[in-house]
Parts: sequence; C-alpha cells; structure tokens
Amino acid sequence: MQPLILLVYTSQSRQPVDGEMIDAILNVAQTFNSQNNITGFLMVRGNYFLQLLEGPEDAVLQLYNKISMDKRHHRITLQGKASIENRIMDKWSMGYIEEFKETQPSAQSMLELFELAREGQVISSAKPLEKMLRIFSRDAKIR
Ligand SMILES: Cc1cc2nc3c(=O)[nH]c(=O)nc-3n(C[C@H](O)[C@H](O)[C@H](O)COP(=O)(O)O)c2cc1C
Repeated sequence: MQPLILLVYTSQSRQPVDGEMIDAILNVAQTFNSQNNITGFLMVRGNYFLQLLEGPEDAVLQLYNKISMDKRHHRITLQGKASIENRIMDKWSMGYIEEFKETQPSAQSMLELFELAREGQVISSAKPLEKMLRIFSRDAKIR
C-alpha cells in the first residue's frame, strides 16, 4: 500500500469568494475525492483559501497539481507535506464549515491555522491541527 501523506497549501482567490464558487468547488471535490481515496478540509478567510489534503501520496500530489492549475485562484503556496500513519480527516471527502459564526471556538481555531500558515508552520504543528479539526467537527455545521 502507498504511504499516506498530508499536504497543506494556501492560495488567493481571483474573485471574491461567494456561495456559488464554494458550491462548485465542493461538488466536484467531494465526488472526485471520495472516488480517489482522498479526504480533506477547505477553509476560506476573506479571499484566502487554506486546504488540507490527505490520502495516498500519488493521488494527493496529482490532485494538488490539478488544483494548482485552476484559474479561480493564484499565489498557490505549498505549506508542506508530511507522511502520516492515520488520517486526521477521515470523515470528510472535502469538509467545509458552513454558517460560520465568529464567536464559535472553530472560528478561533481557523484563525490560528491561517496564522500558522502565515508563519509556514502548519505541518510542523500536527497536534494543534488535530485539535482544531476536532473542534471543527463538534462545533460547526460541516458539509
Ligand atoms: C480552492 C480550490 C480547491 C479545490 N479542491 C479540489 C479537491 O479537493 N478535489 C477536486 O477534485 N477538485 C478540487 N478543485 C477543483 C479542481 O481545481 C478542478 O477544477 C477539478 O478537479 C476539475 O478538473 P477537470 O475539469 O480537469 O476535471 C479545487 C479548486 C479550488 C479553486
């Protein structure tokens, strides 16, 4: 079996991000990812995306290549990739937080994650990452 990896990147949307764009991305992502053994999470803050992708190495790298050529975003920055033993997002083909409320603990967690990305430290912080994802899963309405 291929080794599992976790890959994280950030990017900037070329257009203001709206519900229509998110729906379009999630529809394709959730179908493709579940057929290709990929799980992950997409976060949006303003016009910035932060996406976590995990799965078999080849599948994740191929998907990342495809996503990096998508004209809807640019300034794609690979934050890091790491081998993992177990998935940390096994529930989500591509999770996304809807009805986001600033007061929820998940909002704070998401800000922290963007902050870690700014410092280039998302991957080296696997423990906080897991904690944040646990908060997301109990706190927010995920689709
Ligand atoms: C921010 C962002 C995240 C995306 N995430 C995924 C994803 O997880 N899985 C996926 O299949 N496509 C994702 N896409 C869409 C792909 O870039 C691409 O449009 C899609 O795979 C269809 O490609 P195709 O027309 O070459 O088949 C994402 C696009 C953007 C802008």
